[in-house]
Amino acid sequence: MDSSIASRVGVKLRQTGELNRRSFLCRAATWSVAAGIGVHHGFAAESNSMNPRLFTFVGGNSGPWTVTRFKTVVGDPIAEPSKIDIVPGGLPGFPAGAQWMLKGVTSNVRYVAREEKVELEARQAALGRPEATHGALIPIRKNAKWWALTQDERRAIFEERSHHTAVGMKYLPSIARRLHHCRDLEVAEPFDFLTLFDYAAKDATAFEDLVAALRVTEEWKYVDREIDIRMIRPG
Ligand code: HEM
Repeated sequence: MDSSIASRVGVKLRQTGELNRRSFLCRAATWSVAAGIGVHHGFAAESNSMNPRLFTFVGGNSGPWTVTRFKTVVGDPIAEPSKIDIVPGGLPGFPAGAQWMLKGVTSNVRYVAREEKVELEARQAALGRPEATHGALIPIRKNAKWWALTQDERRAIFEERSHHTAVGMKYLPSIARRLHHCRDLEVAEPFDFLTLFDYAAKDATAFEDLVAALRVTEEWKYVDREIDIRMIRPG
């Protein structure tokens, strides 16, 4: 296609997309008002219908989670917020009061064998149990050497030599978790993974042991950016 036509078509498509997006937001707002649905979190999600596996993490001054500890473990830091909000879907813009916004999608497993998958599913708890008032958000990036490995090589490091799943399994169901991937999103993200956990106050020491056990593994030699954010929410 002639490049000027291609660019005109591109502009048109972008305009149409923008109109559709705006009209969705208008309709969503109308439905919420009509149905009396309060917005659950501090910020309203843009549209969950676009990708139900997408989550946005907002570090700022609002949200249900209060940051209690914040540590840059390795690599460049990010700003330390007082609150964290976790919003299903995307957001139409940078929310007022936000210091940063990180996005990730849940996905299929990559490194889990059948027996491990069955055991994980039998043992794991979902996030959001009323007693799980403690949380951790740990954004992680792995280096280029890791991503240059093949699937088999990564699995060997992840499980055969670092025992990530086997170690983690011992902490189920006390620790609930959700892994978000960030590498294949539309816009480049600063981390490869956003790992999210919640647990009861009585399991806080166990969580420290788990994190310490993982950080000394061969797998962690490939981690070149990691921020450890601990938080609490009302029970
Ligand atoms: C609660 C116990 C835990 C269990 C049962 C667990 C289990 C798993 C499993 C099964 C996977 C592989 C998913 C796949 O096959 O794609 C995984 C990936 C991952 N986990 Fe954990 N985990 C636990 C705790 C942790 C902790 C505490 C951290 C961070 C400090 C962490 C960070 C990660 C990361 C970054 C990945 C992605 C690795 C990659 O794809 O390269 N996990 N975890």
